[in-house]
Amino acid sequence: MLKIENMTMRFGGVVAANKFNADIEKGQIVGLIGPNGAGKTTIFNVITGVYRPTEGKIIFNPSKLQQDITRLRPDEIAKLGICRTFQNIRLFKELSVLDNVFIGNHLRIESNIFSSVLKLPKYRKEEKKMLDKSLYLLDKVGLKDEIDSKAHSLPYGMQRRLEIARALATEPQLLLLDEPAAGMNPQETRELMDFIREIKDEFDLTIFLIEHHMEVVMGICEEILVLDHGSLIAQGDPETIQTDSKVIEAYLGVE
Ligand SMILES: Nc1ncnc2c1ncn2[C@@H]1O[C@H](COP(=O)(O)OP(=O)(O)OP(=O)(O)O)[C@@H](O)[C@H]1O
Ligand SMILES: [Mg+2]
Repeated sequence: MLKIENMTMRFGGVVAANKFNADIEKGQIVGLIGPNGAGKTTIFNVITGVYRPTEGKIIFNPSKLQQDITRLRPDEIAKLGICRTFQNIRLFKELSVLDNVFIGNHLRIESNIFSSVLKLPKYRKEEKKMLDKSLYLLDKVGLKDEIDSKAHSLPYGMQRRLEIARALATEPQLLLLDEPAAGMNPQETRELMDFIREIKDEFDLTIFLIEHHMEVVMGICEEILVLDHGSLIAQGDPETIQTDSKVIEAYLGVE
């Protein structure tokens, strides 16, 4: 589904990612972990076109059609089927819950600007479809009763779910989640884990997720990549990772 080849991202003297390689298979839930400042979010930013890597390549391969997306714009990458959520939640705070998801649909709209401004039948039909889809997604994420609330009035855990609903509205094949459990209590975290598995199955997703909550990573990821100072230091299933001495050292700083 996604291949990252020898990717390096430098910011001046800082090497945020150093010859990073990854190969994410379709249908997997893959975790990306590492201490603060290891370069995890930078990797998401490079995949989604926010940054162009200093070196290396990103290949997106949703259907045997290898596409080099390294130099594409964020909107082009999103249109191909990669969508993300952010470490610091980014919602339209003053808009309603429904509108936040509705906006996500616009990536897939076929009507042109004229039919939308003039509200021609084709656009009306599409609008109805988008509305139905938005309501379905909000039901899915447990926000059906909050559709008219302003996004900022929701508790933290719900805002994270709303962001996921908006991402799903863009119909991604690859979903990137940057610390989806951040700020959640243990109960919300457990629900989130079930929820991630559920949406993966229902929407036929491949999921790449960054997380500091180890119970989430170890509980739902089939494959885990461990980053330290921009470099991949370990890779494998949860058991392998938990007993890897380099990983323990990176986290605990022991000798
Ligand atoms: N736009 C930027 N300009 C300069 N330095 C940056 C930029 N973005 C990230 N960095 C630096 O790159 C390194 C990796 O940052 P990044 O945010 O990717 O880490 P992270 O693994 O996501 O950390 P955290 O767990 O705290 O979210 C850090 O040293 C950071 O300061
Ligand atoms: Mg980060």
